[in-house]
Formats: sequence, structure tokens, C-alpha cells
Amino acid sequence: MSGLQPNRESFGSRFGVIAATAGSAIGLGNIWRFPYVAGENGGAAFIILYLGFVIAIGIPVMLSEFTIGRRAQQNVYGSFRKLAPKQPWYLIGLMGVAAAFMILAFYTAVAGWTLEYLYQSIVNGFAGKSPDELNMMFDYFVGGTSRPLIWFFVFMGLTAFIIMAGVKNGIEKSTKILMPLLLILLLVLIVRSVTLPGAGKGISFLLRPDFSKITASTVLVALGQAFFSLSIGMGTLVTYGSYIKKSENLGSTAFSVAMADTLIAVLAGLAIFPAVFAFNIEPGYGEGLVFVTLPNIFQQMPGGTIFSVMFFILLGVAALTSTISVLEVIVAFFVEELKMKRKAATWLATFSVSILGILCVLSTSSLADFKILGHTIFSLLENTTANVLLPLGGMFIVIFVAWFFGRQNVVDELSNDGKLKARYVPLFMFIIKFVAPLAIAFVFLQGIGLINLK
Ligand code: PHE
Repeated sequence: MSGLQPNRESFGSRFGVIAATAGSAIGLGNIWRFPYVAGENGGAAFIILYLGFVIAIGIPVMLSEFTIGRRAQQNVYGSFRKLAPKQPWYLIGLMGVAAAFMILAFYTAVAGWTLEYLYQSIVNGFAGKSPDELNMMFDYFVGGTSRPLIWFFVFMGLTAFIIMAGVKNGIEKSTKILMPLLLILLLVLIVRSVTLPGAGKGISFLLRPDFSKITASTVLVALGQAFFSLSIGMGTLVTYGSYIKKSENLGSTAFSVAMADTLIAVLAGLAIFPAVFAFNIEPGYGEGLVFVTLPNIFQQMPGGTIFSVMFFILLGVAALTSTISVLEVIVAFFVEELKMKRKAATWLATFSVSILGILCVLSTSSLADFKILGHTIFSLLENTTANVLLPLGGMFIVIFVAWFFGRQNVVDELSNDGKLKARYVPLFMFIIKFVAPLAIAFVFLQGIGLINLK
């Protein structure tokens, strides 16, 4: 059961594993979502909560996913089927595949916006525009239909193109190039941002906590953001885990990836907030933060065009290394469960995600007034995945590993059958048995208002 299947692909090197996994984790969640969600929910206090969740819950869930995937050598549904035959645990896998559809749909819509904004940066489209005009430019763009749809399909196409090339030649090869590029771009932008005059206010917004802003729903949003940003709770890392060789150290991989993801989110905040405050803009601007605030800043600063081009390349690259990981969840599922060829599976997945994706794209235009529970389709998918499906998925995943898969299997998997010391296993077991599931359940029930223990 634990041997690699001869015809199954795997990542070729340790750097490849890190690039692919960090590529999945680091994305729009860090650069687009984290800054505006933190801005809306109290800044530094939110970030402290977020860090706590990453360490106490995020890393253990990530490690649990790797454990399941590497042991089972299957897609997320097949992994639960294989490790727990004839038991309903496979439902977690199905929920993961469903979440992948939902995330890819709204995420690719936003990824498409980054291409429009890259294009606008290149043709100098922000030049001479007032903040109001830039605001209108964004509303006008997302309020249209053909341009957002075209960019959506371009981005889906790029994602599908990489996935068709396979695990090694597609996912690993592309992320090994794109992730170092991302890091360089981000560093240049941070240096630019923190050297702007007046940047200090933004830094103190990020560093000075105001705990009065924290409510039960803020706590759930912080947990949801941690899950979303780390790509956990839906089987992305079960799927990637199934491509990790038996000689890799899962514990150190999970730890490095979680730390890199958190660092990039905080760095993105450091790149954005000083600039926001330097230009006296409201921090809680919402989804438009990076698409309105930043162009405004870029067009006012010396050399803005080049920084603008760099920023939207960064955003697009970050998004692409994440969309491929979500599409891979669905494609691996189709290949192994429907016995399809990789190419056909990618076409089918791309086609079916696109149907939901079109509805998300149109949520800011023709379908803007179509609301379910007060949300557009776009925001319904964004919020139910991050704040409901991923935390619940993560809770069941740790419960599965702790209580069903069992200690000996965990020890074998994390120590590579005794070759590594993995001294952290007792702590890890304690966390996934008690701390993580109880904390998730508590934050979740409290956040949706079912219990109130405040
Ligand atoms: N982690 C990615 C980001 O931060 C988004 C993502 C979520 C990717 C879930 C895969 C699975 O942008």
C-alpha cells in the first residue's frame, strides 16, 4: 500500500515540491484578499489572530493532508476511499472536489482582472486619472461583460495549458520558474513602498493592534483566511502530497510552506498599507483595494508605470501557481475516478468550471442584482468556501488522521518509516486529536452565531 505506483507521476526534487506547494499557497489570497480582509477587520489585531491560527491549526491541517495524500497515492476522493474502504470518509473528498469547482470559478474571475490591469499598466491607462476616475474605471471594467469574460477565459486557458503538461513538466516546471520571479518582484515593490514619504502610518496600522475591533465573526474570518491562504481544507495538499516522494520530509515541507505563505501575506501588507496611508486612502476599501488604490498610487509616483507593470505581473503569477493547484484537484479526480486521459480530463474540468466561472464574472455586471442570502454568486462562493467548506473540511481531515488513520501510520509516514526522527509527532497528535478540531468547531459555531460564549 505504501509503495509508489510505477506509472504515477511525482515531483522530481525538493525544490520542486516547495515551489509547487508554496505556489499553491501563495496567491491572490495573500496579495489581494489578505490586505483588504485585514483592513476591514481591524488590521494588526486581525493579523495576530491569523498568525495564531496558522500555527495552531493551519500547519497541523497541512501536515495531515500531506500524510493522507502521500500514503494513499490518489486524488482526494480516491485517497479517502483507499485508506477507509466502505466508509463515508470519502464524502470529505467529494466536498473537496466541490470546493475546488467553486474556488476556481471566482478566483479565476479575479485572476482575469489582473490581466486587464496588466494591460492597462502597459498602455499607461491610469495616467492622469483622479482617484474617482480610477474608481469608475474599475467599476466600469467589472461592470462590463465581454472584457472580464475574455480575460477569464485567457486565464483558464493558461491554467489548463500547464495542467495538461502534467505534474513534472507542467506544475513543477512552471512553478520552479514563476516562484523565484514572484519573490524578486515583491521585494522590489516593498522597497519602493516603504520608502514613500508618510509610509509610517501604514506600518503602524499593521503593527499596532486594536482588539476592540475583534468580534466572533472576525475570528471566523481570520480562520477562513488562514485556510484559504494556506490552500488547506479541500484536498489541494492531499493531491500534491500524493506527488511527493517517500524520501521527502513532510514536516519540514509543511512548516516551510506555511511560513513562506505567512511571510508573503505580511510582506504584501507591508507593500500596500504604507502606500495606502501615504496617499491618505481608506484601508477598508474591500475587493477594489489593489485595483483602485494601487493604480492611484502608481500613477502619482515617479516611475509608477514600471512598478505598476511589475505589480500586476506579480499578481498574475501568484494567481496562476494557485489556479493550477485547484484545477489539478479536479483533473486528478477525473483521471483516476472516471479513468480519463489527462488531456480530456483537463478539457472537461475547464469546461465545467467555466460555467460557474461565467456566473461569477457576471456577478459584477448583469447578475449584480441576483442575490442568494444577500450575496452575489461571486461573494457567496468566496465566503462559503473560505469560511464554511474549508474549515469544515479541515476539521474532518484532522479528525480522520488523528482518530481513524491512527498514531502508528502517522509515525511511519512522518518519519519516512523510521528514517527521520520526527520528534514533533506527539505534539502533532495532541493538536490534531483535540486542539485543532475543537478550536475549529468552536470558532465556526461562534462565527455563524449558533453558539455565543462571549
Ligand atoms: N491559497 C491560494 C491563495 O492564497 C488560494 C487557494 C485556496 C488555492 C484553496 C488552492 C486551494 O491565493
